[in-house]
Amino acid sequence: MARIGTDIARAAALLEAGDLVAIPTETVYGLAANALDARAVARIYEAKGRPAFNPLIVHVPDIAAMRKYVSEISPLALRLAEKFSPGPLTYILPKAAVVPDIVTAGGESVAIRIPAHPMALEILRRVDFPLAAPSANLSGHVSPVTAVHVADQLGDRVAYILDGGPCLVGLESTVVRVTDTKIEILRDGGVTREELAAFAPVSSADGDTASPGQLASHYAPRVPLKIGNATEMAAAFKDKKVGLITLTSLSPAGDLVEAAQNFFSRLRELDATVDVIIAEYMPNTGLGVAINDRLTRAAAERHDVASKPRPRTDIAAAER
Ligand code: TXA
Ligand code: MG
Repeated sequence: MARIGTDIARAAALLEAGDLVAIPTETVYGLAANALDARAVARIYEAKGRPAFNPLIVHVPDIAAMRKYVSEISPLALRLAEKFSPGPLTYILPKAAVVPDIVTAGGESVAIRIPAHPMALEILRRVDFPLAAPSANLSGHVSPVTAVHVADQLGDRVAYILDGGPCLVGLESTVVRVTDTKIEILRDGGVTREELAAFAPVSSADGDTASPGQLASHYAPRVPLKIGNATEMAAAFKDKKVGLITLTSLSPAGDLVEAAQNFFSRLRELDATVDVIIAEYMPNTGLGVAINDRLTRAAAERHDVASKPRPRTDIAAAER
């Protein structure tokens, strides 16, 4: 088992040596390695069971560092960065030659983000390279929002887990491609469509192909997750132990920010204790859009998930 702790110097030293370290960010925990070291980055793919075609986000401490790893930043992207970074927004920009191909899965664009967590920023300032970091979960499974969540899935595959407490946003960053005049959303996340629309017209990327990680099945619990009317479904599953995810079960006050914070933890908790999870969509505004996206993918049939052995034969059958 990897050690969990708050030793930033140790985390930095391990990263310098080419090891994997899980780091806290304000969105979810990341599985970090030196983004300029192709061998270290390869270990990320190995540890997560991540398909080689799915590129990684490069994390940097500030806009000056961002400029080193992209060949160009449009004025609109810069305005967004000045407003939302550090924060849960990731920019897809033309990559600089120094970024290894394995980071971008061979593509010409790199995803880049300035995380807002103080420990992540401190470690990024301490090392002299950027950090490639996907969410610190097995590929296709539920994202981690505490250090213990990371240890549960990847404890034996990382050198160290830096504990920065529970993630404040609780959902991944919004991924955008920005042209001179438009913002295209590849993944909904911590920065809302409404916030972005104040800067330029916002659209959704064509299909799921623009962001290779946006597979139909993702964020998948082990037990089945069904979306619909909770009361009707509860009746249909009355012989089973049922867990509920609704706006008020995540936030009694009906606050989408609180619901986002609690979402992945609740999903994990229920996954460990019930036979079936029944869920209702959130209102489709603000952070509700990103939660609904995660719910849809968590409910999708699994074909392409890197799976751990699962005890339930009905799920194993669904995966074949
Ligand atoms: O909040 C977050 O973004 C977290 C924290 C750790 O920063 N990271 C995260 O990484 O969610 P990951 O790898 O789980 O999701 C990154 C998403 C994937 O859907 C991936 O396909 C997409 O960003 N992506 C990465 N690089 C890309 C690129 N060059 N072009 C298009 N999409 C890219
Ligand atoms: Mg992920």
